[in-house]
Amino acid sequence: MKNIESKLTESRKYKPDAQFSSNANLNPKLLKELNSLYKKDPDKFWANLANKEIKWIKKFKSICTGDAPFYQWFKEGKLNISENCLDRHRGNNKNAIIHITENNQKKIISYDDLYLLVNNFSYSLKSIGLKKGDRVIIYMPTIPESIIAMQSCARLGLIHSVVFAGFSSESLKNRINDCSAKVVITVDSFMRNGKVIQAKAIVDEALMNENCPTIDQCIVYKNLGKKIIFNDRDLWWHEILSPKTEIVEPEVMSSEDSLFILYTSGSTGKPKGIIHSTAGYLLNCIITNKWVFDLKENDIFWCTADIGWITGHSYVVYGPLATGSTILIYDGAPTFPKPDRFWDIIENNKVTIFYTAPTAIRTLMKLGEDLPDKYDLSSLRLLGTVGEPINPKAWVWYQLKIGNKKCPIVDTWWQTETGANIIAPIPGVTLTTPGTCTKPLPGIEIGIIDDYGNNVDSINEGGNLVIKNPWPSMLRGIWGDKKRYLDTYWKKYNNKFYVTGDTARKDKDGNIWIMGRSDDVVNISGHRLGTMEIESAIVSHQYVAEAAVVSYKHDVKGEAIHAFVTLKNNFISYNNSDFSDDLREWVKKKIGSIAKPERISFSDALPKTRSGKIMRRLLRNIARGEDITGDTSTLENENILIQLKNIL
Ligand code: WTA
Repeated sequence: MKNIESKLTESRKYKPDAQFSSNANLNPKLLKELNSLYKKDPDKFWANLANKEIKWIKKFKSICTGDAPFYQWFKEGKLNISENCLDRHRGNNKNAIIHITENNQKKIISYDDLYLLVNNFSYSLKSIGLKKGDRVIIYMPTIPESIIAMQSCARLGLIHSVVFAGFSSESLKNRINDCSAKVVITVDSFMRNGKVIQAKAIVDEALMNENCPTIDQCIVYKNLGKKIIFNDRDLWWHEILSPKTEIVEPEVMSSEDSLFILYTSGSTGKPKGIIHSTAGYLLNCIITNKWVFDLKENDIFWCTADIGWITGHSYVVYGPLATGSTILIYDGAPTFPKPDRFWDIIENNKVTIFYTAPTAIRTLMKLGEDLPDKYDLSSLRLLGTVGEPINPKAWVWYQLKIGNKKCPIVDTWWQTETGANIIAPIPGVTLTTPGTCTKPLPGIEIGIIDDYGNNVDSINEGGNLVIKNPWPSMLRGIWGDKKRYLDTYWKKYNNKFYVTGDTARKDKDGNIWIMGRSDDVVNISGHRLGTMEIESAIVSHQYVAEAAVVSYKHDVKGEAIHAFVTLKNNFISYNNSDFSDDLREWVKKKIGSIAKPERISFSDALPKTRSGKIMRRLLRNIARGEDITGDTSTLENENILIQLKNIL
């Protein structure tokens, strides 16, 4: 590998606010103690935290055991996550959830009520015959009932798999079948951007014609009260609830029992079902909520992520509830009805911690740089970002206009696979610079290494980002595909390091800068998509012969998709611009709106090597408006480059 060159040169430094530091969960002394304990005795470091943060039914004896890369954490321990999130916060008269709908309805649920709601729904799930280990798909927007569904699964030891409610029926069907789910939980419909989205109809389409033979039942929560088609397998949520409140003892779970599967894109066409465990996952969720978000019981934490993504799992549902704070959830679009919606919600609900994606920040900044000035955002004390690199301009605006210069910004790097934050600032301690996620958290050792496993030592030189030690919330595998787990994450360095798939560099202060992906994964608006997945959706269209998908830099989305397409010879009836729209709709139908290509170019052929491999590198140069560099001598059809450049 020719090491990756870095061009960024941002060096502004921001010191933590003194008042924030003096009350922070971690100060320099505590951080130093944590780091030195980890260095001296990693087992003791993790055991101390696990003892302190988790309510165990039975204590663990061992810490990290098993051969690489099949690690087990706290394996003799017994616990239940829903007990950790709910039972232990009862009786404090505290709010658990503030829910705001797109139509501006507000509902508040206390911990005591949430406990009862989860118990009652757990009883229903049990009474329809679900048992520990069964898989349940949750295809719902971010509303209290989806959280109740997740927590109820955790209470009974059912393995949930939340599918983002923006995914198409086909994506949903593939996920249901991959994990052989027994039940789907959904809603009649929900609102997004002022429009009604018919979730139940999408589920019906996924399940039709015996497409999903393992599904026994579909539970429907009446959300908007819109008409739906009701089939034999369907059950209304409210009709399966017991009329009196039932209490369900939490299932005694082993530390290593699976808590959930969450699908994420990889470099083949098929999404990977990432498996997370019980105790290890919970531990990293709790400590990162406390260390990185400085979460305390009085906080009102608004993480804007949908529950369909890992951020929604760890920083909406599991971490903050296990920590006993109040979460705010907003079930609507950030710009509806106007681009000041977020700021209005923060002011009205006195949100103290706000966590969102750089894309949202850039969109809101573009639509109204001064809009936040009209709002009192003084309740905020900490801001976070996740999902993609944040450009310094957006970081500085966020710090100035939203944080009023006093809120630390935590730029958190992590992945579906890591379960929780891995590289992030400690808000009361770390000197931050816009654009870097700074340094690994206590207990995490990261490396930047070349393709041969050597450390990349020079300052600002790029290499592969790896994690060198096992950590409690690491993924436990890919559902049903051990080989892919080994090949994707471990094979490159003989099971020694976890391969993140990202490239990164370290600056002179030791801060980590994420440079991008080293595989065929693109990051559109903070959402991971495999280019192969989009390519296979496009080529499944009857008129398409071949397609190649690359990304290019986009002002708002971070990256956007450019699809290069060749059509079949018999294709004559459309002109290209109509057909582009048809293809976009086709991709939406196959995967979901987030995967729609921004640009589509049609040409007679795609640039290929003599052995028939599409040269995506050249297409990337074209899409990004760069000169074509590097070797083109293996190209079979050089003329095609001229045609492609002329089209753009
Ligand atoms: C990217 C989201 C730069 C990265 C939690 C990673 C980031 C992928 C950051 C995981 C960040 C996430 N700075 N890049 N702070 N956070 N990424 O699985 O490429 O949806 O590998 O998890 O997003 O995306 P995923």
